[in-house]
Amino acid sequence: MNKEKFYITTPIYYPSDKLHIGHAYCTVATDAMARYKRLRGCDVMFLTGTDEHGMKIEDKAKEAGVTPKQFVDNIVEGPRGVKDLWKLMNISYDRFIRTTDVYHVTAIQRIFKKMHDNGDIYKGVYKGKYCKPCESFWTESQLVDGKCPDCGREVIDAEEEAYFFRLSKYADRVRHLLEDTDFLEPRSRVNEMVNNFIKPGLEDLCVSRTSFTWGIPVDFDPGHVVYVWVDALSNYITALGFMNDQYHDYEKYWPADVHFVGKEIVRFHSIIWPAMLMSLGEPLPKKVYGHGWLNFGGEKMSKSRGNVVDPYILAEMFGVDALRFFMLRTFPFGSDGNFTNELLIQTINTDLANDLGNLVSRTTAMAEKYFGGDLPAGGELTEADRELKVLADEATANYERQMEAFQFSNALAEAWRLISRANKYIDENAPWVLARDEAQKPRLLAVMKNLCEAIRVSAILIAPVMPDTAEAIFQRLGVPADGRVWDAVGYDLETGGWWKTATGDPLFPRIDMDKALAELEQAKAEAAKAALPDLEIEPFTEDKVDFDTFCKSDFRAVKVKDCQPVKKSDKLLRFTLDDGTGVDRQILSGIAKWYKPEELVGKTLVAIVNLPPRKMMGLESNGMLISAVHTEKGEEKLNLLMVDDAIPAGAKLC
Ligand code: MSP
Repeated sequence: MNKEKFYITTPIYYPSDKLHIGHAYCTVATDAMARYKRLRGCDVMFLTGTDEHGMKIEDKAKEAGVTPKQFVDNIVEGPRGVKDLWKLMNISYDRFIRTTDVYHVTAIQRIFKKMHDNGDIYKGVYKGKYCKPCESFWTESQLVDGKCPDCGREVIDAEEEAYFFRLSKYADRVRHLLEDTDFLEPRSRVNEMVNNFIKPGLEDLCVSRTSFTWGIPVDFDPGHVVYVWVDALSNYITALGFMNDQYHDYEKYWPADVHFVGKEIVRFHSIIWPAMLMSLGEPLPKKVYGHGWLNFGGEKMSKSRGNVVDPYILAEMFGVDALRFFMLRTFPFGSDGNFTNELLIQTINTDLANDLGNLVSRTTAMAEKYFGGDLPAGGELTEADRELKVLADEATANYERQMEAFQFSNALAEAWRLISRANKYIDENAPWVLARDEAQKPRLLAVMKNLCEAIRVSAILIAPVMPDTAEAIFQRLGVPADGRVWDAVGYDLETGGWWKTATGDPLFPRIDMDKALAELEQAKAEAAKAALPDLEIEPFTEDKVDFDTFCKSDFRAVKVKDCQPVKKSDKLLRFTLDDGTGVDRQILSGIAKWYKPEELVGKTLVAIVNLPPRKMMGLESNGMLISAVHTEKGEEKLNLLMVDDAIPAGAKLC
């Protein structure tokens, strides 16, 4: 029998070494859905990848002194790069597309040509705000205070030759798609699209540029590169082999069952993408689901706001499954959610440590104690067990409905209904009381087996979201492979034979909130420090000083006769210096943080000696010692300028 196909995608990510937990949200959700569909026996294609062209990448590569390709290679494939992050988050993608992959580049050129040849792409003039020094076009809304957002300089009105896609031609068909079908969900996003973009009138879209080169060249018009969205959106079909020979499963998987995308790119996916496909004469994806953002402290996580949450730190402290669970259980998929560490820890303690973890620990501990971990066939069932089964079957059916509607949070709530009920079932049936009476042994056996069965069913339900945890649970209960699959999700009252339980460490140890928050702060500070440059030196002054003024500064070699800390000051040292005049010179210098006074005695230093005297802490300072300053990993460093002791005191430096 042919398996049902399921093709699901994430957006392709801009390559960044600063992907945060907000980015991971969409990919974790997609992964959970892909795993759920595999569990259901579907033939799943889960596509993700990276969106690697554009001016920004070109600029960043220039800054880093590498080619754009080297730059993106490092961020996608390198340590802590995009692929590394997906590995950390246990993302089971089937295919990874990079828009710099040769097959994609060729396919985009063919797609562009086809749309050009059918009259949907035409040459026109792109008008915008242009920053000459940056050689960049900006739209009005990208400007900051009317100036270039990159360098802050004035922009001018400018034009460049560009290709345009006849988006306006498809306005009616797209409107119908949005308003009269379930193409875009949640429904609230439809109104947003229609009111904000379709009703005001769809304008044709600029799809090529000549002002930068890091893009896919328009092969029939050198000098033009394909402007990002045609390049990016087409990944969903080129990755299946559309207009290329790299893959051959376009017929099999297209149209996509669903594109999961963040709300800010819904517009591109629900208006431009279908219009492009209409132009190409290809089928449309079945659905676009626009999920909300994970905010942090009420704002969208972003590098520039400095509120990004590092998934590596969180995964290391709490475990990947806990993180995946938290994101999908806490925030309804279609809405925004506010991520806080407190809420994360609280959720782990309540749902995972208390509810799920305890249920597994208590059950396996009792199975061990009363039956040595071996639960044979037989046992005495009661109405309580049948009730548990009814609830389990109901929860499973609801779970299925919610997952099919991409409502992860509600689906997990159903799994937890069963977990909570099973915990209550322990208290109601009190196995420890039954264990005291030999005659109750058959009842005790049934209770233990029902608990194992409730846990087994729960583990199947949580497997798409917490794959490692489900696996650990199956192992502890000794569930064979055929008891772990969707076909076995129905609660079986007569379970016999397969329980061979084992005890182990708690699945989710309780977390001490205050301690964990402090550790997180520390880990964040350390990571921030590690990310600082090894060495920073002050930028050079652009203001020129004229030579005569410079010559007025009198620099001399001086020898340290004595050096003492200044009372009540943790910064100042008091130097008694031989400056060659025969009269001691006193200079105060704020360098106590870097030097012990005694280690400086006898050294030959450099001082400027014609500064006006200055009083500090009641002492007079006659001049200033010269030192070199720089910053290392964010920490200020200072080195006094020490010169050859052969230089006599008073020698003039010029
Ligand atoms: N390259 C485009 C997508 C092209 S798809 C043909 C892009 N890339 S992105 O790296 O900026 O974003 C990738 C996804 O991460 C988007 O769906 C975006 O909404 C999502 N998120 C980025 N920050 C997010 C949160 N703080 N919360 C939830 N999702 C967020 O856009």
